[in-house]
Amino acid sequence: MQTVLCKATPRNIQAAGAVLRRGGLVAFPTETVYGLGANALSAEAVEAIFKAKQRPADNPLIVHVADASVVRQLASHVTPVAELLMTAFWPGPLTIILPKAKHIPGVVTAGLATVAIRMPRHQVALELIRASGVPIAAPSANISGRPSPTRAEHVWRDLAGKIDCILDGGPCSVGVESTVVDCTESPPLVLRPGGVTLEDLRSIVPDTTYDSPTGTKLRSPGMKYRHYSPAAEVVLFEGRNPIALRQRLLRELETSHKRTAVAGVVEIVSDLPAVSLLAQGSWDSPARLAEDIYHFFRQCDEKGIEQILLHSVPERGIGLALMNRLRKAADRTIDVDAEVT
Ligand code: TXA
Ligand code: MG
Repeated sequence: MQTVLCKATPRNIQAAGAVLRRGGLVAFPTETVYGLGANALSAEAVEAIFKAKQRPADNPLIVHVADASVVRQLASHVTPVAELLMTAFWPGPLTIILPKAKHIPGVVTAGLATVAIRMPRHQVALELIRASGVPIAAPSANISGRPSPTRAEHVWRDLAGKIDCILDGGPCSVGVESTVVDCTESPPLVLRPGGVTLEDLRSIVPDTTYDSPTGTKLRSPGMKYRHYSPAAEVVLFEGRNPIALRQRLLRELETSHKRTAVAGVVEIVSDLPAVSLLAQGSWDSPARLAEDIYHFFRQCDEKGIEQILLHSVPERGIGLALMNRLRKAADRTIDVDAEVT
C-alpha cells in the first residue's frame, strides 16, 4: 500500500475524511499523540488498525468524537459523573469509559461491555472527525510496544506502507496520552494517568480514585503490555532528592562504557556529559519533559544509543503520567534513596 504523507490543510483533511468513510486508515494529530483512525462503526476498518499496528486483539480502542452529544449514541447509559467530567475537560486529554451501545462492533472494545470515548482538543482531529461523518476509533499511531508518535515523521517511520494517509499537523503539545477514567465505577477510577491531572479531576469530582498501575492492570487491558520502549536499555533512577539524583547520574556516566543518553529536568541533567541530552522542564513542573520524551526516545534509536538514563520526578500534576510512562519504558530501576553510598 502506498501511504500519502501530507500537510493537514483543509482540503487534505476533507480528502482524508473521505478515506475514513470508505473504510481506510488515516493517522492524524491530537493534542496528546498522533492517532491511527478508522471508522469505529465498521468492524472491517477497525480490524485493519490491529493489523497495521500489530496490536494484541485484547486491547480495546478509544472512540474519538467531535461533539459531546454523540456520546449518547455510543454509550447505552451516560452517568452523571461522566457528564460532569465531559463538561469540564472536553475537548481535551480525557477518555471516559461507559457501558457500550449495542451497535459498536466488538473488535473496537475487545469484547468488553464498555467503550472508551474522547473528544480531542486539536483542530485537525476535530475537523477530520467531522469530515468523515462517523466516530473514529484510534489508538496511538505507532507499532505496538514502540514509543507513541508525537510527530508525523514518527508515524511514517512505523507505519509507512501499511496505512492510507498521514496528516501532518506538527508536533503534539501534551506529549503523553490521555487520562483514562472508568465512569462505570462509583467513585470514578483512573485507569491510566495522562494529560488531565488527578488534581484537575478531583477539583470536579473530589473522590476520584487512582490505585497505582498494579491495581488497575486487569481493568485496562492495555496497561499490562510493555510500552513506550526505545531499542536502548532504559535505566530509571528513582529518588526524592534532586541533588542526589544528579550526583548518581553523573557517577553512572563516569563509569559507563556504553553510548549513553540522558533525559530529565533542567535542574538535574543540564550539562551532564552524555552522548545525547534532553534537559527540559523542571522538578516542580515537568510538562516540557513530558512533551518531548517520546521524540527523544526515537532520536536515541536513530543515533544508535545503547543506554538511556532517566530520573524520577514527583508524582503530582503531569508528573504522575510521566512517571507511569517512564516506569513502563524502564528495563531496570535503581532506588537511589536506598543505595548505600
Ligand atoms: O491520548 C490518547 O488517548 C491517544 C490519542 C490518539 O487519542 N490514544 C491512545 O490510545 O493512547 P491507545 O490505544 O494507545 O490507548 C488506549 C488505552 C489502552 O490502555 C486501552 O486498554 C484503554 O485505553 N481502553 C480502551 N478501551 C477501554 C475500555 N473499554 N475499558 C478499559 N480500558 C480501555
Ligand atoms: Mg498506545
